[in-house]
Amino acid sequence: MKRIAVLTSGGDAPGMNAAIRAVTRAAQERGWDVLGVEGGFAGLMAGRMRALGARDVGGIIERGGTILGTARAPEFKTPEGRQRAVHELGAHDVDAVVVIGGNGSQTGAHALWKEGVPVVGVASTIDNDLLGSDITIGVDTALDVALENIDRLKVTASSHQRAFLVEVMGRDCGYLAVVAGIAGGAEAVVIPEVETSPDRVAEELADAYRRGKAHALVVVAEGASCNASTLGAHFKAHKERIGFDLRVTILGHVQRGGHPGAFDRLLASRLGAGAVDALARGEQGVLVGLVRGQVGTTPHDEIVGRTKPLDLELFRLAQVLAS
Ligand code: F6P
Repeated sequence: MKRIAVLTSGGDAPGMNAAIRAVTRAAQERGWDVLGVEGGFAGLMAGRMRALGARDVGGIIERGGTILGTARAPEFKTPEGRQRAVHELGAHDVDAVVVIGGNGSQTGAHALWKEGVPVVGVASTIDNDLLGSDITIGVDTALDVALENIDRLKVTASSHQRAFLVEVMGRDCGYLAVVAGIAGGAEAVVIPEVETSPDRVAEELADAYRRGKAHALVVVAEGASCNASTLGAHFKAHKERIGFDLRVTILGHVQRGGHPGAFDRLLASRLGAGAVDALARGEQGVLVGLVRGQVGTTPHDEIVGRTKPLDLELFRLAQVLAS
């Protein structure tokens, strides 16, 4: 192995920079060159790569986002797109690629590996829905951002005896909503994995008031069918019958923009260096993640096209503790 390329892909996650830094420095320690690919798979297809040395990745461990940039690149799903990427890698003398990202990115990594390129993935998405890692880079920081906002909303909610809805990210997965609900002390949690109805949510919040609570807070995952817009419209339309207002806050991308916390910096450092170790051992076509608390690898074949199911015990816990 002489030269590797590293890219970040899909939605950015706090800690991606720490992973880029770890890949670069661990590779350099082995005497390998590192190229940073700009703009994810789109940049790979266009051959946009620059040399990364130890100093180029200085001062980034504490920064959110990704210094390399990222993108969603539908064109990489076509054989022509992938061939262009393979060509560019050959033209730049790249022996292997490290792909830092979530589900879509690991699907891309797997497809590139099937084209004959040695590839190792690093588990990074705030959604925490990636098989092959107990937890992914960015989740902990995104949760902290959600909690900071929830804590503030609870203060004003209690002062006004108003119900509040906070929508957190999670297109297909309710992990962030459930853990934000537990850690933020929400009265109700709504996630894509568990069907509910607007009236049922209204009843859960009304019940919280009946139990003597000064506020009623529901945390909702964006991908739930009862999301912020559905519930907001329902409460507006049935205000008299429900008996109280619902104020809606959509956190959206704010959650992705935080400075990575200690947990994500350490996780990203371990997984980034782990990716280099995996390549040095001759592993490829694998995802590097945290497996039962240790840095470990899982074949892409076993994880691509699937998502990690939510532990519904967590959802039950959120309900129990809402009492
Ligand atoms: O996959 C991470 C994620 O933040 C999801 O929670 C969210 O639905 C999606 O990305 C948003 O994607 P984009 O930033 O491309 O709008």
